[in-house]
Amino acid sequence: NKKITIAIDGFSSTGKSTVAKQLAKELGYVYVDTGAMYRAVTLYALRKNFISEQDFDKKALVADLPAVKLKFIFNPEVGFGEMYLNDENIEKEIRQMEVSQYVSKVAAVPEVREMLVAQQQEMGKEKGIVMDGRDIGTVVFPDAELKIFMTASAEERAQRRFKELSERGEDVTYKEVLENVQERDLLDTTRKDSPLIKAKDAKEIDNSHLTLTGQFERIMDLYRATI
Ligand code: C5P
Repeated sequence: NKKITIAIDGFSSTGKSTVAKQLAKELGYVYVDTGAMYRAVTLYALRKNFISEQDFDKKALVADLPAVKLKFIFNPEVGFGEMYLNDENIEKEIRQMEVSQYVSKVAAVPEVREMLVAQQQEMGKEKGIVMDGRDIGTVVFPDAELKIFMTASAEERAQRRFKELSERGEDVTYKEVLENVQERDLLDTTRKDSPLIKAKDAKEIDNSHLTLTGQFERIMDLYRATI
């Protein structure tokens, strides 16, 4: 079978990563979570105090970008690559609410996108890759053979995310999570550089009322129809 590039884009908390991981495992492909890369840069900016509730020193972050070394290292116990920032495993830290609150601002900086997009294109140049994000089918791999655009209602997505965060012991309310989801939707779809939009040739899947298995089957059908 010839290896292809699979781009999975969509709003936050639509379960893109769950399905992308399943797909990569089934096909023996590499999975890349590009959201983790934007989250890693955000964590870096937070640690350096480049960003806070009051202000965002974009210039300082941009000047420091050469010092931000990102790497995915495969963890056989979980079955996918974990995010490393300057050789430190930050997989857990980047999933916290604080990072979610600032990530869309950092992701709107053109120099940040330029650096990460170049790294993503390098990772995918051999094909055999499933990449999830916001601009994979439009900017990173406009020639991807299979493009999926995932959607679900904001309430459904906030509910899932709230459950996930609560189970991990994070002290958040449903309302806070819903507001964060809505705010990120707005920032991601309205930013100037690479806004979140469905590529013309992407297949849209609304999973508000789909089970995980149902959704996976639908995507496998699309894959089989593509190769
Ligand atoms: O996928 P995840 O929700 O972890 O992504 C976090 C944030 O990173 C998104 O809300 C978006 O602002 C940004 N992002 C992006 N482009 C990508 C992936 C993520 O702008 N390809």
